[in-house]
Amino acid sequence: MFWLSSLVLSLCASLTLGQSSNSTSTPAINITGNAFFNSETGERFYIRGVDYQPGGSSNLTDPLADVEICKRDIPVFQDLGINTIRVYTVDNSLDHSECMQMLQDAGIYLILDVNTPEASISRYNPSCSYNAVYLQSIFSTVDDFAQYDNVLGFFAGNEVINMANNTYTATYVKAVVRDLKNNIKARDYRAIPVGYSAADIESNRELAAQYFNCGDDEDARIDMFGVNDYSWCGQSSFQTSGYNEKMKIYEGYSLPIFLSEFGCNQVASSRPFTEIGSLYSTQMSSVFSGGLVYEYSNETNNYGLVQIVSDTEVTKLQDFDNLKEQYSKQENPSGNGGASTSNEHSTCPDYEEGIWEANTTLPEMPSAASVYFSSGAGAPQGTGYDTQSQCDSDDSDDDSSSSSSTTTSDSSSDSSTSTSASSTDASSTSSSSATSSSSSSSSSSSSSSKTKNGAVVVEIPRVFQAITQLLTMII
Ligand SMILES: *[C@@H]1O[C@H](CO)[C@@H](O)[C@H](O)[C@H]1NC(C)=O
Ligand SMILES: *[C@@H]1O[C@H](CO)[C@@H](O)[C@H](O)[C@H]1NC(C)=O
Ligand SMILES: *[C@@H]1O[C@H](CO)[C@@H](O)[C@H](O)[C@H]1NC(C)=O
Ligand SMILES: *[C@@H]1O[C@H](CO)[C@@H](O)[C@H](O)[C@H]1NC(C)=O
Ligand SMILES: *[C@@H]1O[C@H](CO)[C@@H](O)[C@H](O)[C@H]1NC(C)=O
Ligand SMILES: *[C@@H]1O[C@H](CO)[C@@H](O)[C@H](O)[C@H]1NC(C)=O
Repeated sequence: MFWLSSLVLSLCASLTLGQSSNSTSTPAINITGNAFFNSETGERFYIRGVDYQPGGSSNLTDPLADVEICKRDIPVFQDLGINTIRVYTVDNSLDHSECMQMLQDAGIYLILDVNTPEASISRYNPSCSYNAVYLQSIFSTVDDFAQYDNVLGFFAGNEVINMANNTYTATYVKAVVRDLKNNIKARDYRAIPVGYSAADIESNRELAAQYFNCGDDEDARIDMFGVNDYSWCGQSSFQTSGYNEKMKIYEGYSLPIFLSEFGCNQVASSRPFTEIGSLYSTQMSSVFSGGLVYEYSNETNNYGLVQIVSDTEVTKLQDFDNLKEQYSKQENPSGNGGASTSNEHSTCPDYEEGIWEANTTLPEMPSAASVYFSSGAGAPQGTGYDTQSQCDSDDSDDDSSSSSSTTTSDSSSDSSTSTSASSTDASSTSSSSATSSSSSSSSSSSSSSKTKNGAVVVEIPRVFQAITQLLTMII
């Protein structure tokens, strides 16, 4: 008997060890048609997440490089019931292995914006900011994160187009999408999805969705599309919020779409998050694959679910309880939720002055960057690395981390509402939004989540069940 139990024990130990580098709780998420699927269970995957950048842009910190902060926040993510977080800016020179492991163990995926405030596409001088030094910065971020199975995707840019009049920036963002995808291929990494997170601007929302998913070059088309949308405020509804119109706009889109930021705070008290009931139901699941609530920590723009007290403590706010309750009430649709595999990629929108000014012909990748394909990007330079120093640009251009925000939300006629959103970055004032914009993707806030229903979570208990059964049989 004794030797049998020790055999079982060592079996357990080796299972545990085997899990530790690539936890079975977060098998890679694949894309088929317009939806995400768990590559092991085959179940459809809906993003239940939050945007996560404690400190915002005013105190830009890499939350995935600080184990103390991960220990503080990951249990809170689990309590909330999320399966994904989005982080707007990391420091690629730091070690992320411990926090990534903790996220894997908690069944939580990461969507990562590859930009930083100083390394991003500038809205003011996009062609100059698109250079080999910049590509070195984002490729080395990919070199660091590509090893983790729980990286759900990378955002090549966040709200770079943030008004009606800067659609020309999309040309360079799309070139970045192409370069990231080619780099992932050349480095032989897992085919990690690359996407763009769009501001919700009425005059170009549909055009932007089409543009990033158009053209014959598959490598230049995004793999997923995120929409920052603050149009459902308070006790709204599918019709009142305009979500019904969004469904019409994006119906037939060939790729997964999700809300990369949502959670309007133009409400009298706490946010009721009633949109969860629509988003994770068949009312929307044929087009949308969930979303990320803006945002985990309460910064000066007042979008938080928790208040940060110290590096070891947070206080859960009423918004947290409301969101948690909505998640627990709303299960995912059964089956594939109406996902589609028959849609074609989009047709490129025509150039139209004042409306859509991006070029369908992309600039070639700066030749100095091709060495990164063969040898890797080399030493990561961290968040302080300014890749636009040779550009004659307005300082305020970049900021990396601010969140999204400038977005104009459609629902509010103007952008005002959303502007505030962006300010997640707290300190930076409104100017920051402009600033931030320059950074294409780098805004700071982010969210995270972990799904309860997700197939993902099921795996581990199964392993334990099997072990328990074995033990019972043997002992
Ligand atoms: C996870 O597994 C992949 C292969 O599936 C491997 O390339 C990668 O290095 C592993 N990651 C870690 C952190 O061990
Ligand atoms: C998921 O994608 C990987 C490659 O990225 C592929 O090897 C695997 O077969 C895919 N799994 C499914 C279930 O499609
Ligand atoms: C900035 O963030 C770090 C890490 O969370 C924290 O230790 C520090 O107190 C913050 N600084 C300010 C001024 O809030
Ligand atoms: C775009 O419009 C904003 C105001 O709506 C203005 O401040 C800005 O200068 C314009 N940008 C360009 C490039 O025309
Ligand atoms: C969030 O932070 C802002 C700015 O510090 C503060 O005014 C607000 O009261 C906080 N919200 C909550 C619910 O504590
Ligand atoms: C698009 O790019 C091509 C190639 O660089 C250039 O010849 C053309 O003039 C551009 N079109 C516009 C509208 O800028």
